[in-house]
Amino acid sequence: MVVSQRVLSGMQPSGRLHLGNLLGALENWKKLQEHNECFFFVADWHALSTNYEDTRQLKTFVREILIDWLAAGINPDRATVFIQSHVPEHAILNLLLSMITPVSWLERNPTYKEKQEQIEGRDLHTYGFLGYPVLQAADILLYKADAVPVGKDQLPHLELTREIARRFNSLYSPVLVEPKEMLTQFPKVMGTDGRKMSKSYGNTINLSDSEPEVRQKLKTMVTDPARVRRKDPGNPEVCAVFDFHKIYSGSDVIKQIDKECRTAEIGCIDCKSLVANTMVEQLAPIWESRKSLEANPKRLEDIVQSGGEHATKVSQQTLSEVKEAMKI
Ligand code: TRP
Ligand code: SF4
Repeated sequence: MVVSQRVLSGMQPSGRLHLGNLLGALENWKKLQEHNECFFFVADWHALSTNYEDTRQLKTFVREILIDWLAAGINPDRATVFIQSHVPEHAILNLLLSMITPVSWLERNPTYKEKQEQIEGRDLHTYGFLGYPVLQAADILLYKADAVPVGKDQLPHLELTREIARRFNSLYSPVLVEPKEMLTQFPKVMGTDGRKMSKSYGNTINLSDSEPEVRQKLKTMVTDPARVRRKDPGNPEVCAVFDFHKIYSGSDVIKQIDKECRTAEIGCIDCKSLVANTMVEQLAPIWESRKSLEANPKRLEDIVQSGGEHATKVSQQTLSEVKEAMKI
C-alpha cells in the first residue's frame, strides 16, 4: 500500500525545461501527486543567489517554468503549485534559522565551492549565496515535508536541512520534521551532441520547441561516430539516438533497430525519423496544453494565487510554532 506523505520540491526558474527535466523530475512529480500531499514551488529567490546582477528575465522564467510544469501534467487540483516569493514566511524562517546555523556548516557544503569555481564571470562571494542552503532548509521545514524528491546533486542540501532541524529541535522544542530525500531515478537522457542533456551545453530539446525544431534537432543529432557512411555497420550502444528509442519506442522497434543498425540495414536518417515521429506524438499534448496556457494568463495567475494562499496557511502554522518554541 502506498502511504500518503507530505512531499515538497522546488526548481529554480532558469529558462525553459528540456526533455531531461521532463523525464527526470517532472514524470516523478506527476506520479507523486497521485497519492501524496504535494507542494511544488518555483524558487525565484534562490535564482537570485547566482543571478542577482541581471534580473530582467526572472519574471519571464518564472512564468515559463510554470507553463512547462502544468503542460507536462502537474495538476494544480492535486498539488499545491506556488511561487516562493509569494510566501514571505520563507524569508522569515530563513532569518530565524540563520541565527542557529554555524557558518562552518555552510562553508564546508560541497556545492558552495563547486559552483563558485564553475560559474565564471559572477561574484559569488555573497552572504546570500553562502546562505543558499539555509533558505532551502526554510523552504522544506516550513511545510514539515516528509520527503523531498531531488537529484543526487541536492543531497548535501538535504543533509544540512536535517542538521538544522535537529539543532533547532534540541535547542528549543521538537517542532521541525527531518525530511527524507527521495532520489529521482533519471533515465539516461542525452543531448543532441551525445553528451548529457544540459542547458549549459546548449544541446537540449525543450518542451517549448516546435515540431519542426524537434525534427531539425534530431536530424542534426550526432550518432555513432564510427558510422561514417551509410553502409558502415553501427553500434547503437554508443548512439544517443538509440537512447531516445529506448525511451520513446516500443520494444519491437527497439529490437529491430538494434539489429538493423549493427547490420547497416537501416540508415541513421530513417532511424532518426522513426524516433522523431514517436517523440512528436508524445509531445503533442504538451504543446497543445502550452498553447492554451499561454493564451490564458489569468488561469496561470489563479493557480499560483490559490497555491500561494494554501502554502501561506500551512507555513504560518509552522512559523507560529517556531516562534513559540523560540519564545519570540
Ligand atoms: N536547490 C534546488 C535546485 O537547485 C532548488 C530548491 C530550492 C529546492 N528549494 C528547494 C529543491 C526545496 C527541493 C526543496 O534544484
Ligand atoms: Fe544511431 Fe540509429 Fe544510426 Fe544506429 S542507425 S547509429 S542507432 S542513429
